[in-house]
Amino acid sequence: MSTLEIKGLHVEIEGKEILKGVDLTINTNEIHAVMGPNGTGKSTLASAIMGHPKYEVTAGTVTLDGEDVLAMEVDERAQAGLFLGMQYPSEIAGVTNADFLRSAINAKREEGQEISLMKFIRELDGKMELLEMDQDMAQRYLNEGFSGGEKKRNEILQLMMLKPKFAILDEIDSGLDIDALKVVSKGINEMRGEGFGCLIITHYQRLLNYITPDKVHVMMQGRVVKSGGPELAQKLEAQGYDWIKEELGIEDETVGQEA
Ligand SMILES: Nc1ncnc2c1ncn2[C@@H]1O[C@H](COP(=O)(O)OP(=O)(O)O)[C@@H](O)[C@H]1O
Ligand SMILES: [Mg+2]
Repeated sequence: MSTLEIKGLHVEIEGKEILKGVDLTINTNEIHAVMGPNGTGKSTLASAIMGHPKYEVTAGTVTLDGEDVLAMEVDERAQAGLFLGMQYPSEIAGVTNADFLRSAINAKREEGQEISLMKFIRELDGKMELLEMDQDMAQRYLNEGFSGGEKKRNEILQLMMLKPKFAILDEIDSGLDIDALKVVSKGINEMRGEGFGCLIITHYQRLLNYITPDKVHVMMQGRVVKSGGPELAQKLEAQGYDWIKEELGIEDETVGQEA
C-alpha cells in the first residue's frame, strides 16, 4: 500500500495566501472526492501538489510513502507516481497523442526497458476502445482542436496508459455530457484497485453517481472543513453548501480578497 499525505499545507500565489492549512491523507485502493464552491482553493491544492511554479508552499508537507514530494522537481513527481488531470489541458502542436503517451511511458522506465511498439499499440487500442475514442485520435496532435469532452477522455486515456500510483483529477467532469461522463467514470472505475489511489476534485455531485468515493471532503476558505462518506456528497447535492457555512459560522466560503 502507498500513502499520499498532505499535512498543514499553506500555499501562496503572488504573496496572497490561498491554502491555509490543508490536511488530507489518501491511500492506494481509495478514491476520495474533494468538493466545494468555486474559489475555495481546490485547483490550487492540485497545482501545489504537482509543483506548479506559481504556487509557493510556505508551510506544511506533502509526502508519498514518506518521501518529500515538495523537494522533487515536477518530472520527479510524475516519476514517483503522481498524475494530474488538468481542468484545462494544454494543446501541444506537432506532437501526436500516441507519441506523447509513448514518451511519457518510457520516461518512467529504465533505459533498455522501454515498452515495445507492439505492446504499446495493443494497450492503446484497448484503452481507446474502452473510452469509446476514435482510433484516429491517437494520431492527432495532443489536444489540438479536441472538444472539451475529447480532452477529458484523453486525460483519462493518459491516466490509464501511465498507471500512476495517485491521480488528482481536477474538474474532470466539467463540460461533459452524460455519455462522456459515463465513459470517463468507466475509465476511473477500471483503474480502481490495489495500486491506485485517486483524488477527484469536483464542484458537482453528479460524477459521484458513477464513481462511489470512499471519502468525501469539503473545502472552504482554503482548508478541508468537513469529511465524511459518500452520503456527504448526496447531502451537498440535495442541500447545497449553506448548511456547512452555518455550521461553521462563516459567511464567505472563498479564500477571500486581500483588504
Ligand atoms: N494563478 C493565480 N493567480 C492569482 N490568483 C489565483 C490564481 N489561481 C487561483 N487564484 C485565486 O485563488 C483562489 C482559489 O482559486 P482556485 O484554487 O482556483 O479555487 P477553486 O478551484 O476551488 O475554484 C481564488 O481566489 C483565485 O482567484
Ligand atoms: Mg478549480
